[in-house]
Amino acid sequence: MAKRVELDSLSCFYGKFRAVDDVSMTIEPKSVTAFIGPSGCGKSTVLRSLNRMHEVTPGARVEGRVLLDEEDIYAPDVDAVNVRRTIGMVFQRPNPFPTMSIFDNVASGLRLNGVRNKAVLEESVERSLRGANLWEEVKDRLKKPGAGLSGGQQQRLCIARAIAVQPAVLLMDEPCSALDPISTLAIEDLINELKDEFTIIIVTHNMQQATRVSDVTAFFTIAGTGQPGKLIEMDTTSKIFSNPGEKRTEDYVTGRFG
Ligand SMILES: Nc1ncnc2c1ncn2[C@@H]1O[C@H](COP(=O)(O)OP(=O)(O)OP(=O)(O)O)[C@@H](O)[C@H]1O
Ligand SMILES: [Mg+2]
Repeated sequence: MAKRVELDSLSCFYGKFRAVDDVSMTIEPKSVTAFIGPSGCGKSTVLRSLNRMHEVTPGARVEGRVLLDEEDIYAPDVDAVNVRRTIGMVFQRPNPFPTMSIFDNVASGLRLNGVRNKAVLEESVERSLRGANLWEEVKDRLKKPGAGLSGGQQQRLCIARAIAVQPAVLLMDEPCSALDPISTLAIEDLINELKDEFTIIIVTHNMQQATRVSDVTAFFTIAGTGQPGKLIEMDTTSKIFSNPGEKRTEDYVTGRFG
């Protein structure tokens, strides 16, 4: 079930370096939020902090809180591995398990969660592949390796893998940047469909993509090298792109900066 995500004064560090400073925002369930801003402003860092992938980097840590339907994912009794399992992530480059079959790629998370029943697995794999708009293209070759698919198909396979475990939130870091325009539109259509079920946060450098897929846009920026990234403003996507509150946002979305 889609959940609400709240960032409460979140700062992210790599060792002593404060990469992101004091971000607070609320992301409503069943919405698509786009993170935009110049390279190095901390979009990926914030995204990875939302499922505790950030701290996998040695020396990396956060201050502040991230709440998932009121529950602090950084609370001492919370298991980071569990958090990563319930908050799905799709990366810039499609990363299916290459030698694993298409079926097993999608089933992998379910098996990790202890699902053994063959009928249950088959049903979940089909539902996830249908959800990712990939079923028709792969239903006759489920036993073939994931690496045999095109880039766009591999990315949809990764989305199927992520949604198979029915995560509360789906994080996507530039999911279309390695894809051709047709595959990109297929993923964008898919995001529009998936938002009925998930809370989606997508990082994108493509302003058209942000306007096409997101309900809300958060603009981050950075004052200069060595400075922390900051959230400048967050509003409905139509407002950010037509009448933003800050000149810095306007300069960025109109292409005068970054
Ligand atoms: N593993 C790391 N170790 C140290 N510093 C890092 C690491 N990853 C990122 N940083 C630094 O943190 C800051 C934010 O990086 P991040 O990758 O989050 O930016 P971004 O907005 O996603 O950029 P891009 O648009 O280029 O992907 C940058 O100054 C970057 O150099
Ligand atoms: Mg990034």
